[in-house]
Amino acid sequence: MEIITKINQWISDAKSDAQEARSEAELFDLEKKYLGRKNGLLTNVLKSIKELSDSEKKVVGPRANEVKKEILTIINNQRKQLQEKQSQSTKTIDVTLPGKKIVSGHLHPLTIVQNDIVDIFTRMGFDIADGPEVESEWYNFDAVNVPDNHPGRDMQDTFWLRAEKGKKQSLLRTQTSAVQVRYMEKHTPPFHVIVPGRIFRHEATDASHEHTFHQFEALMVGNDISVANCKHVVSVFFSQFFKKDVEIRLRPGFFPFVEPGFEFDISCTVCDAKGCSVCKQAGWLEIGGAGMVHQNVFGASGYEKGKYQGFAWGFGLERLAMMKYNIDDVRLFHSGDLRFINQFR
Ligand code: PHE
Repeated sequence: MEIITKINQWISDAKSDAQEARSEAELFDLEKKYLGRKNGLLTNVLKSIKELSDSEKKVVGPRANEVKKEILTIINNQRKQLQEKQSQSTKTIDVTLPGKKIVSGHLHPLTIVQNDIVDIFTRMGFDIADGPEVESEWYNFDAVNVPDNHPGRDMQDTFWLRAEKGKKQSLLRTQTSAVQVRYMEKHTPPFHVIVPGRIFRHEATDASHEHTFHQFEALMVGNDISVANCKHVVSVFFSQFFKKDVEIRLRPGFFPFVEPGFEFDISCTVCDAKGCSVCKQAGWLEIGGAGMVHQNVFGASGYEKGKYQGFAWGFGLERLAMMKYNIDDVRLFHSGDLRFINQFR
């Protein structure tokens, strides 16, 4: 029968076609040619079977179905082989290709600055200390000469924590000065220590104010520590921190825990004191308070009053980071905006 010869021929045709196929797309076309629902060669044969005589039907029908299965097996086998070849070729490593970049985490700019500060003071022989962020009223205020009802408390709007009945209220520390008495209770002069840390104030935020920010406190106590020592340490620190000479300026200022007290200014490092938007054309920038430790603070620490003298300061860390990296909005630090943070990678 002519038609049977034709169908049988398709098997060997399909075999050689399949072997030549170089891609799965080519195999798909082949499948379509023989088995496609519309105009597939075998599909057409099966469709036209009803036009054959009964005796032909009996032979052609089963054979066409067998051939259909065989061609499908041929194509599927070839497909498998192609896939295996492909996965083998992707398993070999092309060492000349550029590597995939692994995105790793990195330090926050404030951490970088804090580490810099700690490094500089460690080199100068300072100890580094820490204290709790949830603090008692005693260490944050009373112990540093700011008793209840003292107007000095108004200088720092406070986040008070709800207290259990009969217990004293705690607070989020408003200043790293809260660590002064904690440290002195455990150490005897002479000593010099730096306390970097996070502090909190109940304040409205704007480009230069945050409710959560950082300070680093200094405390240097001995028998004859003076304002001159303070000025020297500060100017050495700033020259190293900004890697250029920085002028410092003291103005009288009031803080209950120091006497005398100062406001500390440094020459603007952004414009080299010529005047710019960061220093508001003044050439100077206020970076924090300082002074000679009040004898009442020594008293609260358990020291004999009048025996020692020393200086303390509390400088803002964000301020320094902003100057170092030319950042004009303090709120960026805690914004969580990765476009900002990733610049410090
Ligand atoms: N604690 C003060 C403040 O936060 C700064 C300060 C520290 C001033 C130590 C004098 C001495 O404003």
